[in-house]
Amino acid sequence: MTAALTAGALTGTLLLTGCGGPASASGDDSSASGAKADLSVSSAYMPQPVSDTMAAGFLTIVNDGGADDELTSVTSDAAGSVTMHRTVGGAMREADRLTVPAHGRLVFRSGGDHLMFDGMKRKPVEGQSVDVELHFARSGELKVEMPVKPATYNPATGH
Ligand code: CU
Repeated sequence: MTAALTAGALTGTLLLTGCGGPASASGDDSSASGAKADLSVSSAYMPQPVSDTMAAGFLTIVNDGGADDELTSVTSDAAGSVTMHRTVGGAMREADRLTVPAHGRLVFRSGGDHLMFDGMKRKPVEGQSVDVELHFARSGELKVEMPVKPATYNPATGH
């Protein structure tokens, strides 16, 4: 009984140390200069477009690292150009670069920020996928396969 309690107390201490360590070390010079972005992509999809030449794309870029990064451009062999659009007060505005904050995420979602594909070489159809390359200021390139979903697809409901 006593031994079990001690082990529990020790585990608690270790967990606290593990959590507090990185945060308290963040002001340290060597740690700050070693911090970098750690990016991954999830929830990528393209609603099957109505238009023959234009399409929208959505995805979430997660940064598990301790430094910000910036999405500087997006390219795709399937399109003449891909631009990043912000939706501000109901109006779309093209963005040059978008920040992926440290320990944060950059979310492109229906009704919000989105990728705009122009000059599609062929009309994407549900079940296909579109290859996209994301270019970052620090992390280089990330390739994403964007599955084409039904035009009315909403990831929140799964339909
Ligand atoms: Cu747009």
